[in-house]
Amino acid sequence: MEKVRVMIIGNNDNRIFEIKNLLNDQEVAVVGFAKQMDNAYEKALGLKPQVVILQCDSGSEEFLELANRIYIKIPGCAIICVCSDVNVEMIEKAMLAGVRKVLGFPIDSATLYENIEQAYNVEKSRLLNTGTVVGAGMQSRVVTVFGAKGGVGKTTIAVNTAVVLAQKGNKVAVIDTDLQFGDVNIFFDIDTKDTIAELSQGRDAADIDAIKRLTALHYSGVSVLCAPKSPEYAEYVSAKNIETIINTMRPHFDYIIIDTTPLFNDATMVAIENSNLVLLVSGMDISTLRNTKTSLNILESLQQRDKTEVVINKISNGIISVKDIQRVLDLQVKNKISLDIKTALTCHNKGVPIVIDAPRTAIARELAQLADSIVNIIDSRVK
Ligand SMILES: Nc1ncnc2c1ncn2[C@@H]1O[C@H](COP(=O)(O)OP(=O)(O)OP(=O)(O)O)[C@@H](O)[C@H]1O
Ligand SMILES: [Mg+2]
Repeated sequence: MEKVRVMIIGNNDNRIFEIKNLLNDQEVAVVGFAKQMDNAYEKALGLKPQVVILQCDSGSEEFLELANRIYIKIPGCAIICVCSDVNVEMIEKAMLAGVRKVLGFPIDSATLYENIEQAYNVEKSRLLNTGTVVGAGMQSRVVTVFGAKGGVGKTTIAVNTAVVLAQKGNKVAVIDTDLQFGDVNIFFDIDTKDTIAELSQGRDAADIDAIKRLTALHYSGVSVLCAPKSPEYAEYVSAKNIETIINTMRPHFDYIIIDTTPLFNDATMVAIENSNLVLLVSGMDISTLRNTKTSLNILESLQQRDKTEVVINKISNGIISVKDIQRVLDLQVKNKISLDIKTALTCHNKGVPIVIDAPRTAIARELAQLADSIVNIIDSRVK
């Protein structure tokens, strides 16, 4: 059985952490976290959890409003409140807001899981009986392209899959979170006027009009939010800014593709946590494979493994075969892209995405297939 997708929302970091730990050994996938004040609703809209756990201690009006908004706008998502001061009045208000269960804290792991399963099953049968289509009107999907080694092809994959998705009529944005040496602008041949650094001043990160003003529109239709012009501006962009930008953009794009730096830093972590899908790009050499294996373990311990798909790039006939990779990584490699130095490098240097400049090459077809896989994988999880 597929794991139930759970999102935890609350204002108390310790409590959120405790709840997450209670779920560690259970059949659930914790798909994300949010503070109640920080675009929690938009984040839930994008992550499409099947159960939201609201950690709310005083049963505040804001929490109940949030619960009600999720109940009305996100069918298929059951809400459970976990609070340390449960009382009859609070339970009544919560039920009116659409909360399915109110649980007292502390709680044990088995009871929490039992309630998650019950809430999930009741919500599922409610949907089946009312014929509601889950996912209708909630189209924003966030994909982080990560790889634990420089030069494995993260940016090539982010840029080209974004273009293919745009060519299919989707509204697509690329965010470059490689804050020091991001080069998405070079792959698109975009003159970097405004960047994520300018956007992170003041309150612009939460303002969709400011975001639209500061993103560049590539002729393929992809909106591009470039990395800072110079490494010293990286410090102006916090992980919090990136999270706000993602959540502000969610309702306005079908797909948001996030390019990253080859480090598990705050920017990468926030991108991964806020994504529906993570593409972990690997090469075929032994060092990259070792880093990929380590990254998979880290993603597992951060409960982000379920949303991760491995992509093997630059495939060529060498000492290490795809079969060897599958054995080392202990998984089936479904996403493969061949080595084609001439095409990739020419397009890189020209600033024209491969799928536009050389659409008939095998590498372009494989990149297009990867874009199709992104759609299929995310769709299968949403339904
Ligand atoms: N399948 C491929 N075949 C041949 N060359 C490729 C392939 N994919 C990417 N490249 C080339 O490899 C180089 C590195 O690619 P890219 O910049 O996309 O990697 P990256 O992981 O984003 O690097 P960084 O960690 O520096 O950001 C580029 O010159 C690119 O054109
Ligand atoms: Mg890159």
